[in-house]
Amino acid sequence: MAMEIRQTGVFGAEITGVDLARLSDEEFGAIRQAFVDHGVVFFRDQHLTEDQHIAFARRWGQININRFFAAHPAYPEIALVVKEAAQKDNIGGGWHTDHSYDEVPALGSILLAREVPPSGGNTLFASMYAAYDALPDYLKREIEGARAVHSAKHIFGTNVREELRNADTREGRFGNAAVADVLADVTHPIALVHPLSGRKAIYVNPAFTIGVVGRDEEAGRQLLAELYKHCVEGDFATEFVWAEGSVAFWDNRSTWHYALNDYNGHRREMHRITLEGEPLP
Ligand code: SIN
Repeated sequence: MAMEIRQTGVFGAEITGVDLARLSDEEFGAIRQAFVDHGVVFFRDQHLTEDQHIAFARRWGQININRFFAAHPAYPEIALVVKEAAQKDNIGGGWHTDHSYDEVPALGSILLAREVPPSGGNTLFASMYAAYDALPDYLKREIEGARAVHSAKHIFGTNVREELRNADTREGRFGNAAVADVLADVTHPIALVHPLSGRKAIYVNPAFTIGVVGRDEEAGRQLLAELYKHCVEGDFATEFVWAEGSVAFWDNRSTWHYALNDYNGHRREMHRITLEGEPLP
């Protein structure tokens, strides 16, 4: 079957007719272009072994070994995103983008569904290109040249923020709090120029952004709240329904994502590989 790339919902693309374990250079090039154009690409029925998942990831560049997530026992490259049937909290259950707390933010993440609940457990993705494009002019002017501060401490450190403190996904799922405690906070442009597409995208997120450079706490909070309201309330999101063997590969610089937690009593296991990015322009 020939490869097909079809836009899904308001953004993102589903790619059919490919086997990620056996990609020709031509197919890889087309996927790369779709990733740049759409921000997130989805695949179905990819029953990859761990080695094949890693090999696919390596075609994009260097793998980031996650410092805070529990790793697959035999493959440190694979971070485990698991919710057991008896747990009530999930991982990633709020709008965020992975690794914005790093000096050089991750390029993207390749998430493979190993076990999914009978229903629910979908993931929402939002386009930060579309969100930027739809900003009112006064907000575009306000954020032009402005930078925001990003941190991992309140999510992965010893003093995690209140609502995460008792989450039943912490035990055995996250580690290395001491590393997060000493990880220096970083700043990034509020509207980045994407290193691959040259397009502008909003690059702050409710999980890891903690303030705005040059503004006091309240003024920074207000600007971020206004941007988040715009991003959440606009028509910028698409919802992906997983099945075992589905893969989503998203761009961390131009999208947000949100793992829905609506499947209590069922197990969900996802394998995530995150790729190193390049310095932001
Ligand atoms: C994540 O936030 O990286 C995981 C998303 C998901 O489990 O759907």
